[in-house]
Amino acid sequence: MSHHLGIHDLSFATTEFVLPHTALADHNGTDIGKYHTGIGQESMSIPAADEDIVTMAATAAAPLIARHGSDRIRTVVFATESSIDQAKAAGVYVHSLLQLPSATRVVELKQACYGATAALQFALGLIRRDPTQHVLVIASDVSKYDADSPGEATQGAAAVAMLVTANPALLTIHDPSGLYTADVMDFWRPNYRDTALVDGQESINAYLQAVEGTWKDYTEQGGHTLDDFTAFCYHQPFTKMAYKAHRHLLNYNDRDTDHHTITQAIGPTTTYNNVIGNSYTASVYLGLAALLDHTPDLTNQPIGLFSYGSGSVAEFFAATPTPDYHNHLHTTTNQHTITRRTTIDYPTYLQLHENTLPTDGTHHTTPTQTTGPYRLAGINNHKRIYETR
Ligand code: CAA
Repeated sequence: MSHHLGIHDLSFATTEFVLPHTALADHNGTDIGKYHTGIGQESMSIPAADEDIVTMAATAAAPLIARHGSDRIRTVVFATESSIDQAKAAGVYVHSLLQLPSATRVVELKQACYGATAALQFALGLIRRDPTQHVLVIASDVSKYDADSPGEATQGAAAVAMLVTANPALLTIHDPSGLYTADVMDFWRPNYRDTALVDGQESINAYLQAVEGTWKDYTEQGGHTLDDFTAFCYHQPFTKMAYKAHRHLLNYNDRDTDHHTITQAIGPTTTYNNVIGNSYTASVYLGLAALLDHTPDLTNQPIGLFSYGSGSVAEFFAATPTPDYHNHLHTTTNQHTITRRTTIDYPTYLQLHENTLPTDGTHHTTPTQTTGPYRLAGINNHKRIYETR
């Protein structure tokens, strides 16, 4: 018997704090039009001193466990490009915080912002082998560039958790995928750095090449035609990038690229990313959440998803919302996750940005700033200590 495979439930979390781009513009003298219109960002999520990729991941995944239990979860795949340890998978901390069964495999995946899509595809492979199992896929990242660098305006942080199952209640994921890899140095972060290095223009060009490359492979693999798609969800390092990407895809297919058509197609996918900022691996799935939460009905209508990870690896694939998917969304909670954040000023942001944990093994207690369910209480003897409220 063949099953539909896909995303059964999806939930996200972001940070305690938010910095409006007006505050950044006031600080560095930039015309706010560049941020609001030029890159398409209103604000960005800023982690509190006691938040990190683990606390966001656990917060994102907790509602899925509350709704569906954890009995059938035998695999947790944690995708991140802002990992906290070179050896231990961040998902092991999440496994512990969520009290998941010990009969579970937990692993971390990395390929810049693309990692969560690899995790999703690997999860589908596991479910195909045993459709009774559930796989918990988590994408969690803090996007951080140097203060006063061009990348600073495209920071942010969030986690998305997805329960991948057979006969999903939300979305069926379809074959084929269009794939593309190219060895480029557009964005990277050597192990000794906290902040990413980026060649801004090169990264935009590399992204657009990947749009073209994945689409070419997708059509060669026998995927849908352009007109079959009702919506397109792109990785959004800043929301304007999705507009650039869609224009590029339409141009590549010799289609009209008038502003209105592109705005209609892309607008609904940007409402969460616009106020959260770049969340790296989570970004394309926040776009998907925004689309599902704010579009009247997409039942059985193909959505094109484009996942891009600098360096670079990209994938284009289709997903269709399943009948009744509306009853399984977390729309109200999602809105609250965004509106509950406390607005901070530039000096407070800068202090958090420059804040680092000790690297000499000394005991450090983090100030209690987050009001979320999980917090990083401190670090002792090089070990992170987490707390549940
Ligand atoms: N009013 C309206 N628009 C304005 C404006 C104003 N007053 N002033 C400038 N603009 C427009 C510019 O015309 C430009 O628009 P177009 O690209 O459509 O021409 C836009 O605002 C940005 O201006 P600049 O190109 O001058 O901005 P910048 O040099 O400061 O850099 C950036 C912008 C390259 C995105 C930079 O923020 C950056 O390096 N960010 C990090 C890298 C990144 O996000 N790359 C995206 C692809 S890589 C990827 O996707 C992986 C990932 O997650 C990192």
